[in-house]
Amino acid sequence: MNPSVSTKTAQPNRDSNLNRESCIARDKADPLAFARARFFLPDNTIYLDGNSLGARPHAALARLDAAIRDDWGKHLIQSWNTADWVNLPQRVGDKIAPLIGASVGEVLVADSTSVNLFKLLAGVLSLPEVANDPSRQIILSERDNFPTDLYIAEGVNKMLGNRYRLKLVSGEELQSALDSSVAALLVTQVDYRTGRVHNMDELNRAAARCGTHVIWDLSHSAGALPVQLNQDGATFAVGCGYKYFNGGPGAPGYLYVHRDWQTRLSTPLSGWFGHAAPFTFVPQYTPAENISRFQCGTPSVLATIALDAGVDTFADISMSHLREKSLALTDLFWQLADTHLSSFGFQCVAPREHVLRGSQLSFAHHNAYAIMQAIIDRGVIGDFRRPNLLRFGFTPLYTRFVDCFDAIMIIRDVMQSGVWQSEKYQHQHAVT
Ligand SMILES: Cc1ncc(COP(=O)(O)O)c(C=O)c1O
Repeated sequence: MNPSVSTKTAQPNRDSNLNRESCIARDKADPLAFARARFFLPDNTIYLDGNSLGARPHAALARLDAAIRDDWGKHLIQSWNTADWVNLPQRVGDKIAPLIGASVGEVLVADSTSVNLFKLLAGVLSLPEVANDPSRQIILSERDNFPTDLYIAEGVNKMLGNRYRLKLVSGEELQSALDSSVAALLVTQVDYRTGRVHNMDELNRAAARCGTHVIWDLSHSAGALPVQLNQDGATFAVGCGYKYFNGGPGAPGYLYVHRDWQTRLSTPLSGWFGHAAPFTFVPQYTPAENISRFQCGTPSVLATIALDAGVDTFADISMSHLREKSLALTDLFWQLADTHLSSFGFQCVAPREHVLRGSQLSFAHHNAYAIMQAIIDRGVIGDFRRPNLLRFGFTPLYTRFVDCFDAIMIIRDVMQSGVWQSEKYQHQHAVT
């Protein structure tokens, strides 16, 4: 069992008395209900895509307005000092740290998830004990991992003269594929399609027995369920700022490096912001002796301020309440879907067991794309993932139980009316 994940109810709760009133009653009793007021949510919209782009916190507007008007507008370049822009990536990293079970000084906001993964993977593969051991030939990952992780592994390997081989297996096979030939394991804790959760503690232990370094991608787990990096023996991780952390489109990502590894790992992107003393402007690179060494160039200040406002939406939130609500929302949605949608051919592909389930549900359907477009037109926003999935994310900070009920009724209506067959829903947009 994964100790990172609440197992309060090991199996789904099934409520035999499901109607709109009972959902409203659950919202009234919800200890996290207060958090919804922290977000702007448009009228007539049920937003079930916060796992892809978190909703906008009210505070983001005010924070950006002040930063643009006053700090940038009036105080100009002095704001690097007066508004402490220079330490913003570390300060926001320190706010993310307790949400992912890390300590202060172990998390840095920087670049994108992809770039952070590049930095950490290249760093791991350049460690002398890895680079100088000819028997360590494998970079291991999951075939269904999010593609950018696999593309980055390919790119890093190419940069290192194809010294390694990228071995891809199913999620179930990851642990058995670990042996002393594996230099690095790249693993995304929650699968972006099915929502299946990997057991962090177990995989870290198995990897440690083989001397393999693990880099976790927390993009679909951080802010969605309790993550315990330190407790579960994790040394390296990356994650997204724009999903559950509500940092806005293209928000910077973050990286975690356990304190013991910060001075041992070097980044290939040795830019001046990772220098021990950037403003001495010396020609030789000397990396900072802490997490700051994983910065590259000038941080994206406005985007990091928006992310700061996003991370602040977690203030006073109990992660165990968050997890309980997340599971209750997915249980409810799934049960309603079983009742109202299964006759239309919807097949849920998420794990039934709570311990294996993230904060999303995906349903396989032959006509998933067109159906998703039709329900988006009716105000229920999820997304489509190839080959045939309608994906719905449940962000416990602002999703209500009644939203689940109303969404299912709208989807049922779309199916009963056949409106999804309209020509206008068949055309695939660039972003799905
Ligand atoms: C697991 C995972 N990793 C990484 C990314 C994307 O990273 P980036 O912010 O670099 O585009 C995503 C995006 O959805 C993701 O799901």
